[in-house]
Amino acid sequence: MTDQKLLRFSLRMPSGWEETLIWQLQQDGWGIGLQENSFQAGHLDDEPVGTSGNPEVVFVIRPAEATRLRVRVEELAQSYGWKPQEWNFATSELAQEDWEFAWRKSWKPFRCAGFVVHADFHERPSLNLRATDTALQIPTGSAFGTGGHPSTRIALRTLKRWYSEQPFDKLLDVGTGTGILAVAGALAGAKVNIGMDPDPPSAGQARQMARLNGVESQCHFWLGTLESAKGLWQVVFANLQSGLLQYYAPMLSQRLVPGGRLFTGGFMDKNEEATLLVFEKSGLELRRLHKHGRWRAAELRK
Ligand SMILES: C[S@@+](CC[C@H](N)C(=O)[O-])C[C@H]1O[C@@H](n2cnc3c(N)ncnc32)[C@H](O)[C@@H]1O
Repeated sequence: MTDQKLLRFSLRMPSGWEETLIWQLQQDGWGIGLQENSFQAGHLDDEPVGTSGNPEVVFVIRPAEATRLRVRVEELAQSYGWKPQEWNFATSELAQEDWEFAWRKSWKPFRCAGFVVHADFHERPSLNLRATDTALQIPTGSAFGTGGHPSTRIALRTLKRWYSEQPFDKLLDVGTGTGILAVAGALAGAKVNIGMDPDPPSAGQARQMARLNGVESQCHFWLGTLESAKGLWQVVFANLQSGLLQYYAPMLSQRLVPGGRLFTGGFMDKNEEATLLVFEKSGLELRRLHKHGRWRAAELRK
């Protein structure tokens, strides 16, 4: 039947953009996107430092929607600054029943900073956890933060290192998405891990993630922006885009105790100078700048 026909819309793009693109298209209402070729096979053997050269994102759409999606993708490619030779797309027919299977197959567990990040449909025995691993289970859903984005993985590594250098009790996660960083904070040992996000699916998904990982009593999530988080914090994570980071820099600084640590991720090379300048003016000292392709993340201290 014609209305049962589906198209596989497959988009090749520069490395490191997969989750941003998927999240944006999901916000636009295009359903769940899946990543292909983002990590090399067998990445449970080692930490993935990067993505393989040719990541692809796939959306399943109805044939009548193909033009609208192509136009939206062209707009996004331009706004992200992708060069014409760095991206392209293809469409092919897909049987409806293949879809869920393909999505599950594409979601591969990976190791990052001693966490083995995996989806809720992966069986624990199949993960072959090492004695030093901590499983970090992500519920299926549309919030941002599966660990697929480089800035989330840099944040996880920073969180683990900070905890081992100087353990902390309280962590604030601004723009928590799935809750991945707050839940990781609880798994690392922090007693109070708070996350908020204005994206409607986030708080419910983050609570579910805390439950799945057995740390619900150490985590608290709500729908909102940084303005709604009161109090002082030893450690703040803000994996946000540069416009938001620049806007929130003074408030982020106010939320830190003297000597408190702030991680900011998700800004791009072209915004590096302006973003770092605003941090400096807000009383934050740059301790380390991470670079991954065009993405930047900063470790700061008040
Ligand atoms: C790049 S995602 C980070 C998700 C997750 N913390 C991670 O590290 O993977 C940025 C998140 O910030 C949220 N956000 C957007 N505007 C915000 C605001 N004004 N205050 C707090 N969060 C915001 C978005 O909804 C999104 O979930």
